[in-house]
Amino acid sequence: MWLFGIAVVALPFLRERDNIGSYEGDFGRTSEKDVPFADAQAEVEQFVPGVTALIAKSSDEYFGLQSPWLRDSGAVDFFRIPSGRQNYEIHCVGCHADTGDGGGPAARFLDPRPRNFRRGLFKFTSTDAASRPQRRDLFQTITRGLAGSSMPEFRLVNEEKRWDLVEYVRWLSMKGEFEQMMLADAEDNEELPDAAEIADIVIKRWHPANLRTIYPGIPETPYDQASIDRGRALFNDSNKGSCYTCHGPEGRGDGPTSDAYKDDWGYPIRPRDLTAGTFRAGAEGADLYRTIAAGIKGTPMGSFEGALSPAEIWDLVHFIQSLSKR
Ligand code: HEC
Ligand code: HEC
Repeated sequence: MWLFGIAVVALPFLRERDNIGSYEGDFGRTSEKDVPFADAQAEVEQFVPGVTALIAKSSDEYFGLQSPWLRDSGAVDFFRIPSGRQNYEIHCVGCHADTGDGGGPAARFLDPRPRNFRRGLFKFTSTDAASRPQRRDLFQTITRGLAGSSMPEFRLVNEEKRWDLVEYVRWLSMKGEFEQMMLADAEDNEELPDAAEIADIVIKRWHPANLRTIYPGIPETPYDQASIDRGRALFNDSNKGSCYTCHGPEGRGDGPTSDAYKDDWGYPIRPRDLTAGTFRAGAEGADLYRTIAAGIKGTPMGSFEGALSPAEIWDLVHFIQSLSKR
């Protein structure tokens, strides 16, 4: 009887949650921003006729796998793409979809949502705020998965194939970013965009020579009570980290502003409960250093490189580690 009661109370709530502010065009997406590309394109086509055909043609010309321009750009390792695609179709499409837009058939059941690769935006990177991810950042995500989300680890997939997957994700992302930028440009200027110029911007963003990596400024300092105490003070210092405003004074994810956020894809997002000891990008000192220094792109958690000294970042790392060691 009580089970039936719970079902009656919970069902309308679940259904309602699915509908609030939702975009219902595709797999029950719940973000106004993360609209399937074909739908967004059809809308712009109405006032910029020809944009659909231009995007298809130029995407093929610049980012197609027969494109000499792409092959010679030095930004993609062509040899890895065919195997990357094969493995992507086996392991990844169910969530990330064949276009990489994150709208695979399983996506509607998942929170957080599988990443939409087509914005060129990745959360867990070792690069500064303006840079695309390094290959090894994506390799780490694919190898270790993202703890606390449905993104599985793929340690059992052979290492060469994981690098092929990295290359395929990079390629999907560049191509997607190009198409999205073409469309945004057409929408803003109400005329057909300059494909050559946009292709050039995208390829430069992804070229490994243009990625700036953030390294720990100094080797790890000793993990001791003094460091943990300094970390706690910084965490709660409104002139320094201000971490508490989101994560709460004891790191439980319940700071005063914690209910207020959406990520750049338009989905609600909460600061992590740091006492649970589950870290998407890893719990080792070096992982946490990277997360704090580089920030988590596309989320309210910004980069703290520069705002905090390397020694201060290590103190914060130790404070956070201490929260789940009790
Ligand atoms: C069961 C669903 C699922 C499968 C299968 C899956 N992923 Fe994911 N993936 C996710 C979710 C969910 C996220 C986002 C997690 C988050 O936002 O914290 C994600 C995020 C990612 C990211 C972005 C990380 C970042 O820094 O933003 C990459 C890259 C990625 N997945 C690659 C892959 C590849 C490659 C495969 C196949 C080998 C794959 N995923 C299979 C669910 C999945
Ligand atoms: C404006 C809000 C905000 C502030 C300020 C903020 N964070 Fe975060 N933080 C977040 C959000 C949101 C997430 C979850 C992001 C995600 O995984 O999608 C997060 C996640 C984290 C994580 C988890 C990373 C992982 O791998 O799962 C750590 C560690 C962290 N923050 C540390 C800090 C520290 C230290 C500070 C202060 C220097 C700080 N945060 C300041 C919003 C914030």
